This record gives sequence, structure tokens and C-alpha cells, in this order.
Amino acid sequence: MQILDGKIVSQSVKEKIKEKTILFKNAGNKTPHLAAILIGNNGASETYVASKVKNCEEVGFTSSLIRFEENIEEAALTAAIEKLNNDEDVDGILVQLPLPKQINEEKIINLISPDKDVDGFHPMSIGKMVQGLPTFIPATPYGILLMLEHYKIETAGKHAVVIGRSNIVGRPISILLSRNAYPGNCTVTVCHSRTKNLKEICLQADIIVAALGIPEFLKADMVKENAVVVDVGITRVADVTKKSGFAIKGDVDFVNVAPKCSYITPVPGGVGLMTIAALLMNTFSACENKYK
Ligand code: GUN
Repeated sequence: MQILDGKIVSQSVKEKIKEKTILFKNAGNKTPHLAAILIGNNGASETYVASKVKNCEEVGFTSSLIRFEENIEEAALTAAIEKLNNDEDVDGILVQLPLPKQINEEKIINLISPDKDVDGFHPMSIGKMVQGLPTFIPATPYGILLMLEHYKIETAGKHAVVIGRSNIVGRPISILLSRNAYPGNCTVTVCHSRTKNLKEICLQADIIVAALGIPEFLKADMVKENAVVVDVGITRVADVTKKSGFAIKGDVDFVNVAPKCSYITPVPGGVGLMTIAALLMNTFSACENKYK
């Protein structure tokens, strides 16, 4: 069993971005700039956005963090996005999800300029991704592809089972793994809350992507020997032994599943770190595209 180490791979991706950014700036181009919008005080969202901003600084990007109260009106948020859309210095815009209930998430996602849609959530980005055209790929699925590529994991002809059908992870990774490319060329089965015989389907999988958000859902008796397991879960679970008061749990029962796997991602230290590296890749591309 080999660990797919998000620390090593994300560090290697970030080093490459850092070098590319130096060359890019030395050639007289602007500094890539990511603007992040964070609404309310959701602890997990605060941590993710803080990490995204910190990582921008690490690779030599500019970042802006725009914060709003939980009770912000939709009009104020749309005005902020329009301002960022029109700001020539801003290359990438991300609005951290989930949004408060008074805000229409679909409307907000649609409002972000597709040229600055570094999260890859805009219907234009998704449409292009489905057609295999160059575009921004959502950061978590993109991070998973970078991880599979780094470890040269064979995917062609493999049966990949994706558990979860969210717009952020399950749906896009299922499309990406089926495309005619590397990583890809898998036969993909998408499972969800209404799937019957989930265990039997998982037992047929060469690659399992667990992205349903239920801690330790995937058990050892659902995984065949030598499977590749990618754990996308990052749920906070109360834990009095931790200073923070919580532990981060993945969707995989790691202790019991890992011994059966050929490769497995840990939580934390796996896909989460790759998500940020992929977001930086998209932000660099958004900036570079301005010169094309
Ligand atoms: N919330 C959970 N994952 C993500 C992500 O990748 N991007 C944004 N904007 N919000 C999220």
C-alpha cells in the first residue's frame, strides 16, 4: 500500500507555479491576482479561505479577501462581484460556498465572469469541460487528476466508482475520469444516495472516489484488494482530545481500508491540499490567458 501524499504533490505543483510566476513577471507581465469572497463565520470556510490566501502569497500571487456578514443582501454581493469582474487587476474570483440561505447560489455563480471563474463552477466552464475544451476545471477534481498523474497511476480501462454527485466534486470527476485523456479513459459508475447495491458496485471498482461527506462511510468490506481509493471527505467531528475541539474525518474508514489498497489518500494531507494547488494553477492560467 502506498500513500498518495498531498503534501509532497501539492508542494511540487506549488514550486512549479512559483518558478513560472517569477519567469512570467520577469517577462514584464502582471502579478496573478486572486480575489476571494467569504461570507459569515463558518469555521471550515474561514480555514479554507485563509489557506487559499496564504498559498497565493507563497507562490508570489496577489490576493484580496473580501468579507461580508452572514446577513448580507444579495444585491450587495452581486455589486461586489460586478466590481471584481470589471477590475482589470483581478484575474480570478472565488466565492466560498456554501452561501447563506437568502442568497441564490446559482445566480451568484452565473454572475462571475467566465474568464475569471477559477473555481470552474460557471455553466460555461462546466459545458466546456464536458466537451473536452480548454477551460477551468473545478479545483478538487483537478487536484485529484494532478495526484493520479504524479504517481503515474494507470487509469485507462479501469472501472472507477464515484460516490457522490455534487457539482463541486462527484459530477465533474466522473466526467473527467471518462474522457479520452490521461488521467481518464475509465469506465465510470456514479453512485449516490438512491443507489442500490452500493457495496457490490464498490467491490467491482479499480478506483473509488469517495465524495459524499459522511465520515468513514467506505468500509473495508466494500473495497476489493489493490483498489486505488481517493478520499474527498473533510468533515469536522467533535473530539475533546484536540485543542480545536474537533478532528477532520474523511469519507473512508482509513485504518481498515488502507491495508487492502494499492494506493490511498489520507485525510488530512491528501486531496484537500491538492484542491488549493489546483486553484493556484487555474489562477495562473486566468492571468496568462489575458496575454493570449
Ligand atoms: N466549498 C467547498 N469546496 C469549495 C470550492 O472548491 N470552492 C468554493 N468556492 N467553495 C467551496
